[in-house]
Amino acid sequence: GAPVEVDISALKPGEKMTVEWRGKPVWILRRTPEQVADLPKHDGELADPLSKRKPDELTPAYARNENRSIKPEVLVVVGICTHLGCSPGDKLVPGPQPSLPDDWPGGFLCPCHGSTFDLAGRVFKNKPAPDNLEVPPHTYLSDSRLLIG
Ligand code: FES
Repeated sequence: GAPVEVDISALKPGEKMTVEWRGKPVWILRRTPEQVADLPKHDGELADPLSKRKPDELTPAYARNENRSIKPEVLVVVGICTHLGCSPGDKLVPGPQPSLPDDWPGGFLCPCHGSTFDLAGRVFKNKPAPDNLEVPPHTYLSDSRLLIG
């Protein structure tokens, strides 16, 4: 599939947009400074906090960091669960909630079997999804223009 160019200049802090790349939904989330600062606090509850698993498949070298991103505030991930391929809901889900892990701060929730992911697409432990969400290959053409693929 061809690379997809996206203008993210209208995306405000806390907002998320979805574009299609190779038939898959790709989420672009502009995290707030508070959301970025919160990411390291939950490392102990994550299956793979530093994204060491399947690095070539799931996390390009430039995203192998706590934020899983090139720019700390902008997350780019494929919105498909690494368990059996459902798409977690399009909306960010606030935590904590009944029936979800007490310590889950909110983020992405897969409706199929309840896997929970943080705002870097990192999966929480003890959930069926084995791995973090995939970070697709991407680069910045300018401050606000992103090329995915
Ligand atoms: Fe997402 Fe099973 S497909 S938890």
